[in-house]
Amino acid sequence: MSEQPNDPRLDQAKASDGSVLDAHETALSRQHAADGARYRLLPIGILFTLSGLILFAGTYLNRYAGHYSARIFNENAKPSTGAVVAVKADPIALGKTQFNAVCITCHQANGQGIAGIYPPLAGSEWVNGPSARVIRIVLYGLKGTVNVEGHAYGAAAMPVFGQVAGSAYNWNDEKIAAVLTYVRQEWGNKAGPITADEVAAVHKAVGDRKEESETELLDLK
Ligand code: HEC
Repeated sequence: MSEQPNDPRLDQAKASDGSVLDAHETALSRQHAADGARYRLLPIGILFTLSGLILFAGTYLNRYAGHYSARIFNENAKPSTGAVVAVKADPIALGKTQFNAVCITCHQANGQGIAGIYPPLAGSEWVNGPSARVIRIVLYGLKGTVNVEGHAYGAAAMPVFGQVAGSAYNWNDEKIAAVLTYVRQEWGNKAGPITADEVAAVHKAVGDRKEESETELLDLK
C-alpha cells in the first residue's frame, strides 16, 4: 500500500504527547470560555425555580392539608353524608349509658321500679307526658307523694341531676336530654325525643332550684 501525502494518519503519527495535550487544551479552553456565562447562570435559575416551588408547596399544604388532622386523614373513616358537622353522640346510646350508670339502681333494668318505693318508668304518665314535666323531674329531682300508674309513691326522693347548687350528679343538658330520650322510647314507651336545647330552655327559665312536687308539675302543661 503506497503512502498518500495527505493521509491524516501521517500527522497523527508525527504528533508527540506534548503536542496532543496542547491541541486538546486549546480546544477545551476555547469551548469553556464560550460556555462560561451560561453555566454560571444556571444554578441561580435553579435556585429561583426551587424557591418558587417550595413557596408554592408550603402555601398549598397550609391551605389544603387540613393540618394533618386524623379526622381527615383516616383512610378507614366511613364516608359521611352532607357537610362536616361536630360529631354528636347518638342520644339513645348516650341515654342508655347514662341510665345504666345511675337510674337503673332505683328504676331497674326493666323500667318497672320497685313496688312501694321506686315508681316505674315503663308506661309512666310522667315519662310519656309533657316534656316540660319530665325535664324538671330529672333536672331538679322530685319529693313528696307522686301518683304513677294508679299507685302513690313518696317513701323516697328522686335525686337532683341538673347542674344546680348542691346537685350530686351535675349532668349537663345534653346528658339529661339523652337519658330522657332513651326512657321515652324504651320498654314500649312511645314519646318523642327531648333535645338539649329544650332542657337548656327549662333550666334558664326556672333557674337554680331543687325538688319539684307533684302539684307544681301538674300545673305545667
Ligand atoms: C336513688 C334512687 C333513684 C334514682 C337513682 C333515680 N330515681 Fe327517678 N325516682 C326515684 C323516686 C323515689 C321517685 C319518686 C319520687 C317521689 O316519690 O316523690 C322517682 C321518680 C321519677 C320519675 C317520675 C315518676 C315516674 O315513675 O315516672 C321519673 C320520670 C324518674 N324518676 C326518672 C329517673 C331517671 C331518668 C333517672 C336517672 C337519670 C332516675 N329517675 C334516677 C328514685 C330514683
